[in-house]
Amino acid sequence: MRESALYGTYARQPLAFERGEGCWIETADGERYLDFAAGIAVNSLGHAHPHLVEALTEQAGKLWHVSNVYEIPGQARLGERLAESSFAEKVFFTNSGAEALECAIKTARRYHHVNGQPERIRIITFEGAFHGRTLATIAAGGQAKYLEGFGPKVEGFDQVPFGDEEALLKAIGPETAAILVEPIQGEGGVRPVPNAFMRRLRELCDRHGLLLILDEVQSGVGRTGKLFAHEWAEITPDLMAVAKGIGGGFPLGACLATAEAAKGMTPGTHGTTFGGNPLAMAVGNAVLDVVLEDGFLENIAARGLQLKQGLAAVADEFPDVIEGIRGEGLMIGIKCKVQNLRLLEALRDQKMLVVPAGDNVLRLLPPLIVTEDEIREAVKRIHDAAAAVNATEKADA
Ligand SMILES: Cc1ncc(COP(=O)(O)O)c(C=O)c1O
Repeated sequence: MRESALYGTYARQPLAFERGEGCWIETADGERYLDFAAGIAVNSLGHAHPHLVEALTEQAGKLWHVSNVYEIPGQARLGERLAESSFAEKVFFTNSGAEALECAIKTARRYHHVNGQPERIRIITFEGAFHGRTLATIAAGGQAKYLEGFGPKVEGFDQVPFGDEEALLKAIGPETAAILVEPIQGEGGVRPVPNAFMRRLRELCDRHGLLLILDEVQSGVGRTGKLFAHEWAEITPDLMAVAKGIGGGFPLGACLATAEAAKGMTPGTHGTTFGGNPLAMAVGNAVLDVVLEDGFLENIAARGLQLKQGLAAVADEFPDVIEGIRGEGLMIGIKCKVQNLRLLEALRDQKMLVVPAGDNVLRLLPPLIVTEDEIREAVKRIHDAAAAVNATEKADA
């Protein structure tokens, strides 16, 4: 048989899906899975949400693409709505999270450039971070496994241990432009930055004239029960990257900025062919219609609490399998005692999808529309998977 024509870059699971509805996803031969992966926090409104299907198909019959050399009314509208519901005054649309980060990094460097300090190009990041797979974002993430073999690391990123204030203070120098952080590390293992440390980061940025860049690609757009996770710490950033959930499955990202931070981004300084095209904007606006409805975010917080409480009981029952539960809203991490992939496989046997992460964690990132019954069902399946792993552990011992 001929080898696959695809790059071998992904360790794919032996599963292919054909259709989905809400929190459920189905293979071609009709096997239904409870989807608590949601495309790694992308399918924010689940699969085939009627409002999104309608918005996309309606736009598809009118106009797909025009180029950013013309006005795009849907873009102006989505930009305005994002600005109204956040700290931001300016928005640049992209196709992905990494591109949103690239825009934020460029914006921060340009800010200092137009302020007459072009030497301020360095950005401080944290160990365990993940910001994407472009050359600049692998340098920002600083993980050796993603940097190896791709030539010199892009200059200008200084990494400090997660939550280490002393190391952070030492790293700030005359060339520092910004601090970049995920309010909750996703790939790093659902590691929340404590609210007090988020406030400290804001203070340090203000004191040293740095910009605070938040990566809310995974934690944003309602995931934690607030529209953006940083709202829990009652601070605002200067720049923020979002993606994933904002498009509900359509490729869409955005860099949000204060007017001051974005002041260097004048005509010609940045651009994209596809970013913010009419199809993406139709879906992005439709996602916001739902996420901004009264009570939507409150329900995420309530479902998150229900999930955490249910999981805490499972962890108590199987301490040899699960070490602890962490996270906020519907961004929950199960810190495993056994190898996390063993529990992932046991969950697959229970017809439930979850996502592995660093620090031996499994991530639960269900669609934000998940119901009380579906959370109950998820906890039951996790219980049964933990019981199965526990039994094989005992048998092996
Ligand atoms: C926190 C965070 N930042 C950036 C990215 C990169 O986004 P993308 O894969 O859309 O480029 C991801 C993707 O997993 C992410 O979780």
